[in-house]
Amino acid sequence: MKKITIQEMPKHVGETVKIGAWLANKRSSGKIAFLQLRDGTGFVQGVVVKAEVSEEMFATAKGLHQETSLYVIGEVTEDTRSSFGYELQVKDIEVISESHDYPITPKEHGTEFLMDNRHLWLRSKKQHAKMKVRNELIRATYEFFNDNGFVKMDPPILTASAPEGTSELFHTKYFDEDAFLSQSGQLYAEAAAMALGKVFSFGPTFRAEKSKTRRHLIEFWMIEPEMAFVEHDESLEVQEQFVSYIVQSVLKNCKLELEILGRDLSKLEKVKAPFPRISYDEAIEFLHKEGFDDIKWGDDFGAPHETAIANHFDLPVFITCYPKDIKPFYMQPHPDRDDVVLCADLIAPEGYGEIIGGSERIWDYDLLKQRIQEHGLDEEAYNWYLELRKYGSVPHSGFGLGLERTVSWVTGAEHVRETIPFPRLLNRIYP
Ligand code: 4AD
Ligand code: MG
Repeated sequence: MKKITIQEMPKHVGETVKIGAWLANKRSSGKIAFLQLRDGTGFVQGVVVKAEVSEEMFATAKGLHQETSLYVIGEVTEDTRSSFGYELQVKDIEVISESHDYPITPKEHGTEFLMDNRHLWLRSKKQHAKMKVRNELIRATYEFFNDNGFVKMDPPILTASAPEGTSELFHTKYFDEDAFLSQSGQLYAEAAAMALGKVFSFGPTFRAEKSKTRRHLIEFWMIEPEMAFVEHDESLEVQEQFVSYIVQSVLKNCKLELEILGRDLSKLEKVKAPFPRISYDEAIEFLHKEGFDDIKWGDDFGAPHETAIANHFDLPVFITCYPKDIKPFYMQPHPDRDDVVLCADLIAPEGYGEIIGGSERIWDYDLLKQRIQEHGLDEEAYNWYLELRKYGSVPHSGFGLGLERTVSWVTGAEHVRETIPFPRLLNRIYP
């Protein structure tokens, strides 16, 4: 007997196969039992017909509890009514391990309860679909950057420097020294770009942000490309190509998952480069016209502002050239103005917020040194970073895409907590 997975079933129509599975749900009458089976690779309905199996086996099938693990033997048949398209005509069931009183029943549960049971909640169909989309975004990211001549580099997680400002750092001890958990791999990616040309990093980042919003995690994963000899506008082109590529990959390879999640595909189908661009100045003007009297030039945007701007476009939109005072120390000044910098945030459509932050980097030694001093940063910790501007400095740009915000947008998830297996939130480190 061939042991296969649910996802391999389409290649085995008409054959009798064996699968390992958990019972996700069950419906039965006196003559027939429908077992919703899942094995991690997919979901399939197993059909047990009383007249075709032993009495004992039919009784076993009817008595199964949710999440009991099983080996199931049956014939794979086509089933045009289900979205998966296949069914299993069950011939035999072997119980591996029983499950009793599984806490997550098919009825509605509150968010806190589900978050407390995240280790189990991950098994449910929608959570499973979100993890599959997350995986596809990661897979497509590696494909995009490998196909375009980038080298993957891994920045350290224990660091002595703070790229995005010092207020959100997680402090720890490094033997007798002080250390921080990385809030961005950017500075190290810049060093690597001077060695390897075009690089990207992908790793966990940590921010002790006191924001309790549906877009903020304490620990999140960021994809950070960095490119030597690439200027601001050229970086925006890479960003729109990259985002289009990963969204189109999900549309192509996660059809079933997007259907399970009820995502409006027409919205995602439009996501193709080029993306619209508006300057920070224009964005402020636009917001004033829309009646936002609370914001003035020099302020950072909040979620309602970003959503108002995003709602004006079908595509993700770049907001470029923010005031230098609300951005980190390393951003290259605008060539014609000293109050704004060469940067852009990419705002996702439909209110999912900022998914990318990026900029051209200061490459002049003296200017960077001055900015480090103005920001009151510990010069010694940034010595190596400054030295990159001493030995053949070049214009270079890079950006960071937040994976969870992107999963949230693509899957239509209300809150980023459902886009990572085990979210770290303001008041949650369990499970
Ligand atoms: O805009 P940010 O802070 O930019 C940087 O960290 C740069 N050093 C990146 C670079 O240029 N290499 O963060 C980048 C992205 C944001 O656009 C957002 O998508 C995500 O990271 N992000 C968060 N995602 C979830 N929870 C949080 N607390 C996040 N903070 C930022
Ligand atoms: Mg940002």
